[in-house]
Amino acid sequence: MRLGVNIDHIATVREARGGLFPDPVEALKVAEEAGCDAIVAHLREDRRHINDQDIKRIKENAKALFNMEMSLAHDIIRVALSVKPDEVTFVPERRRELTTEGGLDILACRKRLTGVIRDFKKENITVSLFVEADKNQIEAAKDTGADFIEIHTGSFAEAFKSNDYAEELDMIKNGVDFAISLGLGVNAGHGLDYENVAEIAKITGIESLNIGYSIIARALFVGIKSAVAEMIGLIR
Ligand code: PXP
Repeated sequence: MRLGVNIDHIATVREARGGLFPDPVEALKVAEEAGCDAIVAHLREDRRHINDQDIKRIKENAKALFNMEMSLAHDIIRVALSVKPDEVTFVPERRRELTTEGGLDILACRKRLTGVIRDFKKENITVSLFVEADKNQIEAAKDTGADFIEIHTGSFAEAFKSNDYAEELDMIKNGVDFAISLGLGVNAGHGLDYENVAEIAKITGIESLNIGYSIIARALFVGIKSAVAEMIGLIR
């Protein structure tokens, strides 16, 4: 199972002063040195952390796979199609949310997604859709022509805090198996940390875990290299 490190919150700290540091590109180099397999960054419509220039520089500098998270907004699609990350992950986006709050409602935007995915596939960009572990959504994801789904682990992570997560974990496992049976690749992420990641890492069939907040928070105390290496250790 691979690890994608989301570096959005390096830019969050930078934006606290609106300057040039800490630099997400410097961070990605250390994360790569520690052995991560992918770099993930979300260009939000409000540009609250990662900006257009970051996306270009990440693409130019990343040796690991670059997975750009994004909504279906026209201007964001334009940036992504011009920068051409290796992979894009479509997520829902709401202005006031602190972070992505759940999976895409693919049933509601299937037609638009199908057209947009076609444009990305023409550029050889792998497409992943962030979804709940729900059969109808996963089936719809397959119909759009996406290559991967990323299963939302946020509800599992919340349930883990009260040690009552068996049902959420089962839903994720069933979602993984169902997606694989349809021929989709499966990633997972959101809310994963050093305590709860082992349960998800035990699930056969997930190719990549995408983790941001907990790694960057831990990096404040031990540095990015150790924070990433510790997470890789737990996943392995
Ligand atoms: N995967 C997706 C699709 C996300 O939107 C996010 C948050 O940006 C993550 C993974 C990482 O979540 P976290 O920061 O909670 O680890």
